[in-house]
Amino acid sequence: MAMIAHKCAGHQVTVVDINQSRIDAWNSDKLPVFEPGLDAIVEEARGRNLFFSTDVDTAIREAEMIFLSVNTPTKTYGVGAGRAADLRYIEKCARKIAEVAEDDKIVVEKSTLPVRTAESVKRILESNSNGRNFQILSNPEFLAEGTAMADLEAPDRVLIGGDQTPGGLAAIQKLVDIYATWVPRANVITTNLWSSELSKLTANAFLAQRISSINAISALCEATEADVDEVAHAIGTDSRIGPKFLRASVGFGGSCFQKDILNLVYLCEHFGLPEVAAYWNGVIEMNDYQKRRFSRRVISAMFNTVSDKKIAVLGFAFKKDTNDTRESAAIYICKDLLEEQANLAIYDPKVEVAQIQKDLGIDADFDRVTYCESAYEATEGAHAVLILTEWDAFKTLDFQKIYDHMQLPAFIFDGRNLLDLDALRAIGFEARGIGKG
Ligand code: UGA
Repeated sequence: MAMIAHKCAGHQVTVVDINQSRIDAWNSDKLPVFEPGLDAIVEEARGRNLFFSTDVDTAIREAEMIFLSVNTPTKTYGVGAGRAADLRYIEKCARKIAEVAEDDKIVVEKSTLPVRTAESVKRILESNSNGRNFQILSNPEFLAEGTAMADLEAPDRVLIGGDQTPGGLAAIQKLVDIYATWVPRANVITTNLWSSELSKLTANAFLAQRISSINAISALCEATEADVDEVAHAIGTDSRIGPKFLRASVGFGGSCFQKDILNLVYLCEHFGLPEVAAYWNGVIEMNDYQKRRFSRRVISAMFNTVSDKKIAVLGFAFKKDTNDTRESAAIYICKDLLEEQANLAIYDPKVEVAQIQKDLGIDADFDRVTYCESAYEATEGAHAVLILTEWDAFKTLDFQKIYDHMQLPAFIFDGRNLLDLDALRAIGFEARGIGKG
């Protein structure tokens, strides 16, 4: 929304939330999310044509177009628990719009939704329409965290789905016109509603599948003499495969991949397609295996015990350039090591201590975990260093200095293949990467 306000000075954008402290944060100098470049754009547009407010009703009444951007977490209760999307927030929004709107509205689904949600939103709105005309569009977001501003500025494509009726096509055109302010028209794809919703889930499933595929090969590389980075490079030069999203890792995280695939799996089962469901579920299973495999390798390399050993964890976010930890592989690995009675010293440049405690389910008194201000503090006296997020700053650490202050043998496990293992071995480290034979 900040990017739309930034690019389209003639449109007024009002972001509303029922959470007062979030809105206060959006109106302050410290935004509630860390995203490179976001501050500047918000600051430029805020107060001009970008507003943050808790007055939901007024915003609905005044808007011509309403974007639903609430979260759709995996259901934790009832039918489909652990897999299906929880649509209660979406439904509440639809009911609120039906209750408050005084005239026609275009309602845009921005949240990632399982296919055919638009139909439910439409039915709720239409059964309460009282003569008002509601058009529903699907406009899934493809930005990735950490590169969100660049992704929004020059998206590979913008996808807009809507009813293929005169009213639906007119609504699609209104949204196309907004994006066309800065996105080449050829990059704005229009489809029917269901194709748009399904494309979002499919895009994430394909992206995650590439990571699980290369991670599967990384296990084979470790068992043999192959190097997964060399394999990834060799296959990535095939233009049909392409080089992106082939970085073997400690496992993918983030709020979307797992949730969206689980959703896809649930949908396939719902529509009586168990083979298709099992196929996509394999992507998640491989990711779980990759996280578990990493902790097991750490333990087995360290003479089968990490009990009472100090392990430095560098990086807790699910990827670099974000403070987001949702589904971060680091959470699973730290929990595995804590179960083995390790002492963890965690350092992440952006993640706050309270977040780490929440993710690990521990309180401030829990003495097996310490929170450090730097990588040097975390590694002081440690038996092992784990790289769990690919922060650029980790590449230029003084590893000789780190080695000099560690217990021997000094282990380093690079879960992101970020470091030069040969250089680390020359210092004296027992260095291991992912998929390095
Ligand atoms: C992902 C998609 O890339 C976006 O297109 C999509 O819009 C977004 O989900 C969403 O649905 O909202 P995001 O989760 O922010 O974006 O970040 P990614 O860059 O996709 O990374 C996801 C995870 O995969 C991270 O843990 C990352 O470290 C890992 N990854 C990525 C790898 O392990 N290897 C790779 O080669 C690439």
